Amino acid sequence: QQRKKIVAGNWKMNGSLAANAALLDGVLEGLGQPACAVVACVPAPYLAQVQARIAGTALALGAQDMSAFASGAYTGEVSAAMLGDFGVAYAIVGHSERRQYHGETDAKVADKALAALAAGITPLVCVGETLAEREAGQTEAVVGRQLAAVLEKLGDQASGMVVAYEPVWAIGTGKTATPEQAQAVHAALRAQLQSAGDAVAAQPILYGGSMNAANAAQLLAQPDIDGGLIGGASLKAADFLAIVSAAN
Ligand code: G3H
Repeated sequence: QQRKKIVAGNWKMNGSLAANAALLDGVLEGLGQPACAVVACVPAPYLAQVQARIAGTALALGAQDMSAFASGAYTGEVSAAMLGDFGVAYAIVGHSERRQYHGETDAKVADKALAALAAGITPLVCVGETLAEREAGQTEAVVGRQLAAVLEKLGDQASGMVVAYEPVWAIGTGKTATPEQAQAVHAALRAQLQSAGDAVAAQPILYGGSMNAANAAQLLAQPDIDGGLIGGASLKAADFLAIVSAAN
């Protein structure tokens, strides 16, 4: 089955006006018109800068997080509608760093995904197990629980979301899941999506966790790996472009 592929860079809390300009120059110089969707998820203060620079190119704009609330007295929060004002098409929700350092629960992540869809933004919903959970044999139970919360909340809107499998032990560690390990979890996630219907299961499932220019092709060759959510390697134009090429 031919599913749409997505390569999304997550810059995390990195960048500056000058560094972003140089990175975008490098990416756009080599990007052309790829067959897959290519996204840059940038820190909120730089949305306007990036929106202006990518106009008319194949690069789409993403956010790294967003509020579950529509508007009001939520100091420090950024709403989906605000992101929409800057042309944001995708928003990461439930990244493990948000779950770990900002106390985001499965229910909160589900609320955020729903709020994204209400604003016409595609939520990139992250799930993933810690090393301890993997070693305890709980990987599928953990990601299954995380995904179930979102599926339940979204109901028939679930076909609008994209899931990213990010084993926590592989994020920023240089320790990638093997293609077989990743494929096994992706297949379980796909089966769970399938239980919500064909349209939900037809959405891409991205892998994230130390994906780089050297290992992307092998991961992306797996039948249920339809793209990547790229942290560190998205900060280097050549590396990011190599991953995009591997997905094309
Ligand atoms: O969102 C991206 C992931 O957390 C992966 O980060 O590629 O630096 O391991 P990484």
